[in-house]
Amino acid sequence: MTSSSMPPPAPLAPFETLFDDTPGTDIPLPDALAALYGPLRLPAPAGRPYVLGNFVTTLDGVVALDDPATGGGAISGYNRNDRALMGLLRAVADAVVVAAGTLRADARHLWTPAGISPDLADAYAALRAALGKPPQPLDVFVTASGDLDLTLPVFASGRVPVLIVTSADGAARLAAKQPPEWVRVVAAAPGHEPVTVRGVLDAVIAAGASERILIEGGPRFMGEVFAAGALDELFLTLAPQIAGRDAVHPRPALVEGQLFAPAAPLWPTLTSLKRAGSHLFTRYAFATQ
Ligand SMILES: NC(=O)c1ccc[n+]([C@@H]2O[C@H](COP(=O)([O-])OP(=O)(O)OC[C@H]3O[C@@H](n4cnc5c(N)ncnc54)[C@H](OP(=O)(O)O)[C@@H]3O)[C@@H](O)[C@H]2O)c1
Repeated sequence: MTSSSMPPPAPLAPFETLFDDTPGTDIPLPDALAALYGPLRLPAPAGRPYVLGNFVTTLDGVVALDDPATGGGAISGYNRNDRALMGLLRAVADAVVVAAGTLRADARHLWTPAGISPDLADAYAALRAALGKPPQPLDVFVTASGDLDLTLPVFASGRVPVLIVTSADGAARLAAKQPPEWVRVVAAAPGHEPVTVRGVLDAVIAAGASERILIEGGPRFMGEVFAAGALDELFLTLAPQIAGRDAVHPRPALVEGQLFAPAAPLWPTLTSLKRAGSHLFTRYAFATQ
């Protein structure tokens, strides 16, 4: 990374609320998080967990650069507010779900609150304790192939409970690698087939996620989630960057592998808009099926 390719580091300033029409009940945020974010309300549907997504995109709709040297934060410009919000959403979640492509792109990451925003580790821990949740959310990985490296920290460290939702073939492949006891593997599709989004959510619920399931992508799995009508709400950060694409670097958008418009576009409702510097933090509510 060159100094000219990145914006200057920004201090962690409080989010400025521009619009807030969010429904739901107030989450009891510790002082440090309340002062940073303001009130956080989240709906609690009867009889099922609330399903929320979190993504960051550039102004021109890019969610990932195809350059391994840039790492996962290049889209937001390593923005600390975006990271603090990611940590906050992980802190209120029972489970954080990512598909295998996202794991492979950020292979040494732990999908925990402090894993993305370590400065706020104490506040996140206090929040989870106040909510009566275990110290870490369940980290869930979705793979049809089962081709995951179980020596990666998220699997081998024992610092976070893990659920892998996969096909029957994928489960057999993973069983051959003898996962540790804190890594559970569920076969939720026959043969080598992909798991339906409903199948993923059911496995996560069966593992104990009763209130909130956070989906962090990536773009191919997110497309399936939208197609299944399974997302209640998207927290979408808009980073003030033009990243560009060309024939050699097609670069994914928020949704890959699914078509909605013009036959069946999804039109969510804006419920919240915050800013920190030139970054915008949106919340969009979707109709679920
Ligand atoms: N900007 C952001 O907010 C953001 C957020 C998340 C990710 N990203 C970026 O997105 C990129 C990864 O994108 P990606 O296209 O690889 O997408 P992805 O959705 O993360 O991963 C696709 C893979 O996930 C597995 N998968 C997806 N749907 C499945 C299903 N229904 N059943 C079973 N397995 C399923 C498959 O793995 P197998 O091949 O193992 O079967 C598939 O190859 C990374 O660069 C990441 O950094 C950006």
